[in-house]
Amino acid sequence: MPSSEVFNQRDGAVHTDSQGHPVGKPYAAQRAGQNGPLLLQDFALIDALSHFNRERIPERVVHAKGGGAHGTFEVTDPLDDLTCAELLSKRGNKCSATVRFSTVGGESGSADTARDPRGFSVKLRTEQGIWDHVYNNTPVFFLRDPAKFPRFIHTQKRDPQTHLKDADHFWDYLSQEPESFHQVMILFGDRGVPNGYRFMHGYSGHTHKLVKKDGSFVYAQFHYVSKQGTKFFTQAEADKLAGENPDYANQDLFEAIERGEHPSWDFCVQTMTPEQAEKFRYNICDLTKIWPHDEFPLRKVGTLTLHENVKNYFAEIEQVAFAPSHLIPGIEPSADPVLQSRLFAYPDAHRYRLSVNYAQLPVNAPIHMPANFQRDGFMAFHNQGNRPNYQSTIQKLTYPEAPYDFSAHEQFVGSLITELSSVTELDFEQPRKLWEKVFDDGAKQRFVDNVAGHLGGAKSDEIKRRTVSIFYAIHPDIGNGLAQRLNLGKVEPFKPLPASEAIKFRANLANRS
Ligand code: HEM
Repeated sequence: MPSSEVFNQRDGAVHTDSQGHPVGKPYAAQRAGQNGPLLLQDFALIDALSHFNRERIPERVVHAKGGGAHGTFEVTDPLDDLTCAELLSKRGNKCSATVRFSTVGGESGSADTARDPRGFSVKLRTEQGIWDHVYNNTPVFFLRDPAKFPRFIHTQKRDPQTHLKDADHFWDYLSQEPESFHQVMILFGDRGVPNGYRFMHGYSGHTHKLVKKDGSFVYAQFHYVSKQGTKFFTQAEADKLAGENPDYANQDLFEAIERGEHPSWDFCVQTMTPEQAEKFRYNICDLTKIWPHDEFPLRKVGTLTLHENVKNYFAEIEQVAFAPSHLIPGIEPSADPVLQSRLFAYPDAHRYRLSVNYAQLPVNAPIHMPANFQRDGFMAFHNQGNRPNYQSTIQKLTYPEAPYDFSAHEQFVGSLITELSSVTELDFEQPRKLWEKVFDDGAKQRFVDNVAGHLGGAKSDEIKRRTVSIFYAIHPDIGNGLAQRLNLGKVEPFKPLPASEAIKFRANLANRS
């Protein structure tokens, strides 16, 4: 754990400027004479003013508001039959962890009780390097084509002219992208506003691969299951707290850990063989779908426990840099195009937000400092000493063996991705199941209220009607409920392509020689 050593500061340290010169009277600026103008030679003053001007760094473009803590990940049930990842090979294996929870759309000072997905990021410092989990509290997402992400996010943020959030933009985008409605059902249902960060689960959403030394693999979805259980706020409770205590979730987490109530989560996997994947009703690279638990049960692997508050928020939480591409041998990404794009997007964001040497910051550094030929750049304080910056024959780096052979992977990559572009009846099955099987009567009522409350803020009737037509296609009761509440009269249901289109496509693939 880097926190205690690096971030603890002793009491009673002598006050200095940034160069370590003692400064006894910080408010006594040097002047020409008694009442004359200030002197440019007053280093302590210029030092303080100019450092202050540079205190802000770019906030995260999404997930800007967050909080977190440190803890430990411990393996309880090894996964060595499915992966060669060393961490998961033995019961009792442990590593230190830093976790950051967040909302998505709001700025760094926005309210914690927004109706918004929550980020659930975990940094594991393993002997084989950093393994980041950059998950959400919902098992699905709004899109399955990464090009949509920046445009989608813009519609959840502020209007370029008014700088206001805009319900027309919000629903205009979503109602043109019916595959987003599974996530919309979750977001506007009872699970849409978690009560703080302790009482929610975390999901990889994306399919990953667990790989063995012989190169064979199974597909996997990762889950963090809250041992505290789950709790959520109603819209009225969330609105009240947004006014009274917009930092509710951060405060709740911090104070619980201070009280010794250490929140924990079971880390579990669902797995699927490549053969099962080809026969599965849904595309495993489709981030808008879940893997039903009755077909693919959860298997517990370990436990994550948060037991240490940060000493310095900026150093340990604002500067922490999570990336889905920070993976360890034995854990691979699937071909999911959204995941593949995220592999690029996060380190790119870190280089912008924190500089090219973001991995050298104490909270981001791996246990064993990297040995390679990367050098220099801003803030290179681990610059790898006097070892030559090329593969020298005198001071040579050892190249380890590849952990396994990748060549057999992903025979059906391209075709899977093609299939992701069309909206078919398959996209409506899982949202419909939520409505029919998961929501009780009260939840159904609250769902219609929540959507009507938000969609009612849109000015355009066309956007309202288009949105309601998609809800009609999920279930006529939702469509009718909303059409009534919004005085829209009769709305024609949206007509997706038949499910057979997608299934036929995959069947052709499975039958290929
Ligand atoms: C944060 C991009 C989809 C979870 C971010 C950041 C970027 C980004 C640029 C800011 C990173 C930083 O400054 O450190 C994208 C793109 C996506 C995508 C391009 C799709 C094409 C997703 C999905 C999930 C997710 C599907 C969850 C399953 C998160 C989380 C954070 C985050 C948890 C906050 C990380 C932290 O706490 O520092 N995303 N994202 N994102 N994203 Fe995504």
